[in-house]
Amino acid sequence: MTDLPGSIDAVEALLEGQGYVGSRALATVVFLALRLGKPLFLEGEAGVGKTEIAKVLAAGLGRRLIRLQCHEGLDAGAAVSEWNFAAQMIAIRAGEAGGRAGVFSEEFLIERPLLAAMRPQPGGAPVLLIDELDRADEPFEAFLLEALSDFQVTIPELGTVKAPAPPIVILTSNRTREVHDALKRRCLYHWVDYPAFDRELAILKSRVPDAAAALTREVVAFVQALRGADLFKRPGVAETIDWAKCLLALDVIALSPEVIADTLGAILKYQDDIQKLNGLEATKILNEVKKALT
Ligand SMILES: Nc1ncnc2c1ncn2[C@@H]1O[C@H](COP(=O)(O)OP(=O)(O)O)[C@@H](O)[C@H]1O
Ligand SMILES: [Mg+2]
Repeated sequence: MTDLPGSIDAVEALLEGQGYVGSRALATVVFLALRLGKPLFLEGEAGVGKTEIAKVLAAGLGRRLIRLQCHEGLDAGAAVSEWNFAAQMIAIRAGEAGGRAGVFSEEFLIERPLLAAMRPQPGGAPVLLIDELDRADEPFEAFLLEALSDFQVTIPELGTVKAPAPPIVILTSNRTREVHDALKRRCLYHWVDYPAFDRELAILKSRVPDAAAALTREVVAFVQALRGADLFKRPGVAETIDWAKCLLALDVIALSPEVIADTLGAILKYQDDIQKLNGLEATKILNEVKKALT
């Protein structure tokens, strides 16, 4: 187990050590979340590196990462624990487990992420990633609020399980809806924005080190220009990385209208956006990008 970072600089070094290129503001809020033991709520567009923060924190701190992926209809059962009905039935039929009451024991419990996060871990308190909370329904938020305020969960038939040490909690939202104030109030908040040119360049150098420097600059400048265009879904950092990897696989050394047309599917995922970009608009943006880079 690694000690928690003692300064903002130490957080920056930890993130950097995992290939994550974050802003000073992000390092600051991560430092504070760790120092104060508060959940960190990260909001931002898809593909800007929110989920990755939890992953690199866990890896950098040598903690277990426990991920709760939120979705519509997610309820306490799926988040905390469920009974293994099949195994219970078999045990009851076989006359094992001492009858009906006996099957409500740990042995027949299927542990889900929130319960797992309350258990002692050999490497120290785990990193609990509650990912894409905006996809869950509002009642689930209320439930979560309770679990996060005392770091404990209750299983009706078994009782309460309390974490020996509070997990490091990271919540993310793509902001398809607003998450409730009450939950936000429990957390430190950070808006993860699209990176500026230099930072996105550094991210590409870290994630696709084999791409040629000149091409990388063109890719970043083009994607940054695209984000200013009127698109249904703007490309995130994930898309920039994917695109660079595609171009590298194709041995492309410089962007051209043809190359862009052939590989646009790596950065734009909606036919309307692709149509808009194909032909004239992509060429126009590319010309501007090339001019700005020289
Ligand atoms: N600042 C960054 N430094 C390094 N890699 C990044 C950064 N931001 C995003 N990435 C990469 O982009 C991809 C998408 O990130 P992810 O965390 O899944 O986005 P989000 O959760 O915001 O949708 C990941 O592969 C991640 O490694
Ligand atoms: Mg994510």
